[in-house]
Amino acid sequence: MNQIIGTSVSRKDGRAKVTGQATYGAEHQIQGLVHGYLVTATIAKGSIRTIDTQQAEATPGVMAVFTHKNPPKVFKPSNNFINSKIYEARLPLSDNTIHYAGQIVGLVVADTFERARDAAHQIEIEYETQPPQVNAHKANYQQAKSLFGEDMEYRSGEFETVNFSTDATATVEVTYTTEMEIHAPMEPHALVAHWEDRDSVTIYEPTQWVKGSQRTYAELLGVPVDRIRIISPYIGGAFGSKEFPWSHAILCVTAAREIQRPLKVVVSRRQMTTNTGHRSQTEQTIRLAANQEGKLRAIEHTAKSCTSPVEVFPEPCTGITPVMYTTPNMRLKPELAVLNVGTPTFMRGPGENPGMFALESAMDELAWELNIDPVELRLRNETKEHQRKKLPFSAKHFAECLKIGAEKFGWSQRQMQPRSQRRGDLLVGWGMASAAFPALRSMAEAKVSLLPDGTARVLTSANDMGTGAYTVVAMTAAETLGLPVKKVKVEFGDSVLPNGGMAGGSQMTATLTPAVLAACQKVLETAKAQNAEEAFVKLRESGLATYEATASSAPSEDGKKFAFNSWGAHFCEVTVDEEIARLRITRWVSVINIGRVLNSKTAASQIRGGFIMGIGQALMEECHFDPNTGYPVVYDLATYHYPAHADIPRIEVSFVGEPDFNFNPMGVRGCGEIGITGVSAAVANAVYHARGKRILSLPITPDKLL
Ligand code: MOS
Repeated sequence: MNQIIGTSVSRKDGRAKVTGQATYGAEHQIQGLVHGYLVTATIAKGSIRTIDTQQAEATPGVMAVFTHKNPPKVFKPSNNFINSKIYEARLPLSDNTIHYAGQIVGLVVADTFERARDAAHQIEIEYETQPPQVNAHKANYQQAKSLFGEDMEYRSGEFETVNFSTDATATVEVTYTTEMEIHAPMEPHALVAHWEDRDSVTIYEPTQWVKGSQRTYAELLGVPVDRIRIISPYIGGAFGSKEFPWSHAILCVTAAREIQRPLKVVVSRRQMTTNTGHRSQTEQTIRLAANQEGKLRAIEHTAKSCTSPVEVFPEPCTGITPVMYTTPNMRLKPELAVLNVGTPTFMRGPGENPGMFALESAMDELAWELNIDPVELRLRNETKEHQRKKLPFSAKHFAECLKIGAEKFGWSQRQMQPRSQRRGDLLVGWGMASAAFPALRSMAEAKVSLLPDGTARVLTSANDMGTGAYTVVAMTAAETLGLPVKKVKVEFGDSVLPNGGMAGGSQMTATLTPAVLAACQKVLETAKAQNAEEAFVKLRESGLATYEATASSAPSEDGKKFAFNSWGAHFCEVTVDEEIARLRITRWVSVINIGRVLNSKTAASQIRGGFIMGIGQALMEECHFDPNTGYPVVYDLATYHYPAHADIPRIEVSFVGEPDFNFNPMGVRGCGEIGITGVSAAVANAVYHARGKRILSLPITPDKLL
């Protein structure tokens, strides 16, 4: 038996990445390449009165300057998530209105990057300026409309008639806030558009959704889909910010058609703070009512977030709440306001992540109020069904996550009383929180070839943004075909390949590996039909033939009987030096339930990555705006703080559970975003335990500890 699934395999793409052989979007070298530099608005609200490009156009090397007066030809896409999707509904350069600071108002094309940048700075713009609204606390909130057509408002039971003072032994009503976070991937947003003629274009761009991006560009450009080729073999971090074309990319591809030269556009770090998405700040109020035993009588979750004037994107914080704890009365109230800021979007655990910060902090408060251990409180309120979908969860092992995590951490040694644990002069705090993320899956196809030399090839348009997708696909094929992993070659990230689905919502592995499994099984059947089994083995070894099959896999009808979700529990130790307001995370245990673990190394690495990003959110990351100019006051990776190695302790990750075969034939649910959910709550709960004073606003920066 060739047992590969479940073992620890190093990344197949690791060597190419560390040796610099992996080629990212903007690194593609093309003969005759020219460079575009974005011109961005220096005001946050108003309009362009005059724009003078004469001097820029006369600068040596400049080939074209595009503004709203001469925008490149572009068509409005259907923008419906199914066929096509762009991040900002407003097309770039469509008029002279300014909606946020940093908005793209022009593109300068020159023979070198430096000349394009220099010319961009010579464009004179006179604005009609209005005072921008960038303060979330003063914004005008309204009921949030849904993102995918599902109603975001929700009510069950008789929430209004629950009398919080008489029906419940304990109540909690607290408001929590989180700050705006920017994605800040290592690879900046950048692309190269290469038109072979006026009818067909190759776009080298990191994208989490190759086929979706292909369709979207086809609509934007008004050409048939097969005239667009997307190349995206590697992505240097995306986190939700590279799923659809942003305005700079639309401008690059359309301008390249006008000038008939291969064109590269790289978004600078500063431009990325306003033009390539962020997670909105949130203000969430949780109301809980529980009886003496800690059984929840009511949960109310109100969540405010902000969007930009050019797109509707509510941070869906309340989505995870009906999944967590059972209660007869529930009310979810998402609200949205418009600010003069760049467009927010999906960012690792969109909604679930800030939502879990509020809910899991409130559960901690309830535990204190009732004098019940926080782990025990969660066990007592676990729900066996998805309370909105009214479906039982498949292969749920949340309770084991809590119990095993507590055991590994040594939770039973914890002194219940805050400020009661010390190490020398330091206060020691122990906190915990649950983790949860929905398990998603879509249709995908893969083509598998077994070659005469005893190797195999898997082809699919999927992509690997650093998650380990190349590796789990190779492992799936290797185990099914009876080959070592190194004999399997995997090709991703090209729109001419079979539809590999989207690397979004933590679904790539669960979507793609069943298709790879099906294609491998088809290859084996074909081979076996033509040869007796032993003969087939010999044939494979002697390398006499090639067998090929393409197969697809999609969610089944059977799967509709269940709700699918992944689960986990985080345990955190912090130390606080009160004199100098120094907070350190000193110990971390995560126990996660994702069905079957395909690659123990990359799966654990995903959880670690989620944890580290969660520490950024808990302690460091915040993007604020100058109230007068409406410009972000962070502008690079030095002013925007996120964790370094020295901030990160040893992280102990383990997995529990059984394969979830109701979900897919591989039994695997997603293992990406769940890692970050609950992290900031576990930290905040530990900080409370250490200090006896709760901090309700993230990030927990030193000033808040004084
Ligand atoms: Mo994810 S936030 O769907 O890349």
